[in-house]
Amino acid sequence: MIPNLNIVPFVSVDHMMKLVLTIGVERFLVELAAYIEDDFGRWELFDKTPRVASHSAEGVIELMPTSDGEVYGFKYVNGHPKNMREGRQTVTAFGMLADVHNGYPVLLSEMTILTALRTASMSALAAKYLAPRGSTCMALIGNGAQAEFQALAFKALLGVDKLRLHDIDPSATRKCMRNLAGLGFDMTACATAQEAVEGAEIITTVTADKQYATILTDNMVGSGVHINAVGGDCPGKTELHRDILLRSDIFVEYPPQTRIEGEIQQLAPDHAVTELWQVMSGAVRGRRDAGQITLFDSVGFAIEDFSALRYVRDQLQSTGLYQELDMLADPDEPRDLFGMLLRAAKQG
Ligand SMILES: NC(=O)c1ccc[n+]([C@@H]2O[C@H](COP(=O)([O-])OP(=O)(O)OC[C@H]3O[C@@H](n4cnc5c(N)ncnc54)[C@H](O)[C@@H]3O)[C@@H](O)[C@H]2O)c1
Repeated sequence: MIPNLNIVPFVSVDHMMKLVLTIGVERFLVELAAYIEDDFGRWELFDKTPRVASHSAEGVIELMPTSDGEVYGFKYVNGHPKNMREGRQTVTAFGMLADVHNGYPVLLSEMTILTALRTASMSALAAKYLAPRGSTCMALIGNGAQAEFQALAFKALLGVDKLRLHDIDPSATRKCMRNLAGLGFDMTACATAQEAVEGAEIITTVTADKQYATILTDNMVGSGVHINAVGGDCPGKTELHRDILLRSDIFVEYPPQTRIEGEIQQLAPDHAVTELWQVMSGAVRGRRDAGQITLFDSVGFAIEDFSALRYVRDQLQSTGLYQELDMLADPDEPRDLFGMLLRAAKQG
């Protein structure tokens, strides 16, 4: 007998928070990074497509599908920089996994928190291959919803314990420093981005602006630095001056998507970039020397969300942190869908 075909496990925001706190934020970030690394190791197996974006004047709504031939996954995500001023999140998301062999969903999950975790795990994972060995100091520019997750991932995966924080809104920096207090960081609030990058081996930009922004100019980036550029992730929405790109070795998730959405939209469509999965597989070198500027042009790719959902799904049995959602119609006889409706009417 196949039990409860109508039921799909659902991870609410409440359960996601409990899951993260039960596991521990840093352990969650490290284990999630291992799932992403594992899936990047199977890169060629996956269905890959640039995400499907619906743009409006104020933001974007995107669908991010992929499949490894056994499991299908997708994420719904938005990006609306003006939301924050209206008391809403800039980025919200939810996602699903399904069994490829019968198409039945096997997990529905909140992904607003999970996206912040997976983005941070992905950033730190890329930096493991690209940042100067032994980096301890990171500039964190943009101190909004994603910021603390980024900081903790770099601490957990690389040992970064000095943060130089900057945001155009000083209250965001204060919020970030308050949240990270007591978690093992030596933190400095900086009045400008220029001040923030001083002495930093890693520069993370994670700001939100609907338009082209110039968070970093060429003179701010010294040799040997690793840049983790997270906030430029839409057509017309970038963070770095073009000259920085011309001096950097650029690493990306999936070139057909990054060329549309990433910092490299500012460059010629054939500008050389390296795919991170090839660095992880050892086929291509990441950082070659101490003077090289490396840039992870992060936009967020569907396989990372697939990994994150896969990780969450693997925790459900042991933690019980999910609800059973009556989500799939399951008449006794598959063709009698209308009959099920009639029987429900009789039952009142
Ligand atoms: N690459 C990815 O995978 C990925 C994933 C999630 C989010 N993002 C992007 O990351 C960015 C940040 O997301 P969030 O959820 O933290 O947004 P948020 O709105 O919560 O925070 C953004 C912060 O950036 C600050 N900011 C804006 N312009 C600035 C400037 N010129 N200099 C310094 N600070 C500035 C704002 O004051 C705000 O505090 C967004 O652009 C989002 O689209 C990317």
